[in-house]
Amino acid sequence: MNRRVFLGSLAAGATALRTRTVSGRSKDTIKLGLVGCGWYGGVVLDAAFKAGGVELVAVCDVDSDHLDRTAQKYAALQSGRAPTRYQDWQELLATPGLQAVVIATPPHWHALPFIEACRRGLDIYCEKPLAYDVAEGRAMVEAAKTAGRIVQVGFQRRQSQAIRQAAEYIAGGAPGRILAVDAQIHYSPRLADPTPKDPPATLDWDRWCGPAPKLPYSEQVGHFNWRLEKAYGNGHLVDWGIHWIDAIRTVLGLDAPRVVQAAGGLYQLKGRITTPDLLTAHFEFERVPVVWRHHLIGAPEYTQDTNIGMFFYGEKETIFVSDNRYVVVSSGKDAPKRVVELSNDAQLAHVSEFLEAVRARTAVSCTPGDAYRSTTAVHLAMIALESGGRVEWDEGAGQIRDNPRAAALLKREYRGPWKHPFAG
Ligand SMILES: NC(=O)c1ccc[n+]([C@@H]2O[C@H](COP(=O)([O-])OP(=O)(O)OC[C@H]3O[C@@H](n4cnc5c(N)ncnc54)[C@H](O)[C@@H]3O)[C@@H](O)[C@H]2O)c1
Repeated sequence: MNRRVFLGSLAAGATALRTRTVSGRSKDTIKLGLVGCGWYGGVVLDAAFKAGGVELVAVCDVDSDHLDRTAQKYAALQSGRAPTRYQDWQELLATPGLQAVVIATPPHWHALPFIEACRRGLDIYCEKPLAYDVAEGRAMVEAAKTAGRIVQVGFQRRQSQAIRQAAEYIAGGAPGRILAVDAQIHYSPRLADPTPKDPPATLDWDRWCGPAPKLPYSEQVGHFNWRLEKAYGNGHLVDWGIHWIDAIRTVLGLDAPRVVQAAGGLYQLKGRITTPDLLTAHFEFERVPVVWRHHLIGAPEYTQDTNIGMFFYGEKETIFVSDNRYVVVSSGKDAPKRVVELSNDAQLAHVSEFLEAVRARTAVSCTPGDAYRSTTAVHLAMIALESGGRVEWDEGAGQIRDNPRAAALLKREYRGPWKHPFAG
């Protein structure tokens, strides 16, 4: 019996335990672990408890405050059974009987726990973006393929009823061929103090930085605020805009962009953040060009109605799509707008789908391969911005064509003792 089969049968043994959920239905109890007990780890876990049939057996964080609060919160929800606490994800992944793990660390800490979880035969719910760099993403896709386990990546907007119905409407043909897509999320971030200072006593900053550069700690690069720091989150497009790039790919069935161009920079927030406060990226997919735009500065947009969303420009109609709404704008003077409001709990649906897949070994909506394409698209935009403005992507080769400066950015240097998982 090889290691994978053995671990698989251990997991199968563990599913013999059954719990009764709020709805009264009995379900096999899945033993879950959580790596990264910050904001979104809690959101995913809350959804898992709402879906029912889970026990949180282990939690891991490098901030003892986050760790303790999370352990206490979920112990209270499972009749006082406290999850075991770890500061080292490698120890958590070795927990006997563990079946599935939620990875909700910042992006620079996704790849290594993910690959180790694959090696240990665990099912995985991994938050977006799949990886911090393109080469990590390739290694993760490969590890998941070899392991053959259930892996769901946290692009929960794939479950949005509004986006799904808009996709059906577009596929039905009424708007005509989609000729162009624009997407945007403009907002004013609440920025923290960027002055370096000692990290909180509860936080192991060296471990938090892990394989990424160890920058001097400040509140603006630490918990939650890392998203606009280049070394950790890599900016608004990679953090939040990626949801729309993934949604556009899903709605239109697009694969990978062939050419990506980007322009932008820091026009007002220099010294406060290290990623663009203004950005325009142009993705040439085979079927359609997609333009992303964000500004994190200045006065609000002309209308808040479309601040967060995607515009699909068809031959006959324009469709604006957001989380809980889509709007059909027909051609012709004074043509009325048709507004369709549809809301559902996409997060709950995405996590529930994962848990059902763990029980029944069924398919999930966002595989690592799919998440890799969306993640790579936004990475390519950031690489283009840093290396002359334009890159040509050869997905088959996993390479940027004829641009060594850009190609060098597909894989970052790891800080020791951590080793980059992509060998090539
Ligand atoms: N799907 C979505 O809509 C959505 C929304 C928000 C965040 N996210 C994703 O969720 C992830 C977490 O984001 P967040 O907003 O919760 O960040 P956060 O900073 O609030 O939480 C991250 C947690 O991970 C911990 N951590 C860091 N390094 C660790 C390590 N080596 N081992 C264990 N724990 C470690 C931190 O101490 C912190 O508690 C990110 O990948 C983010 O992109 C997804």
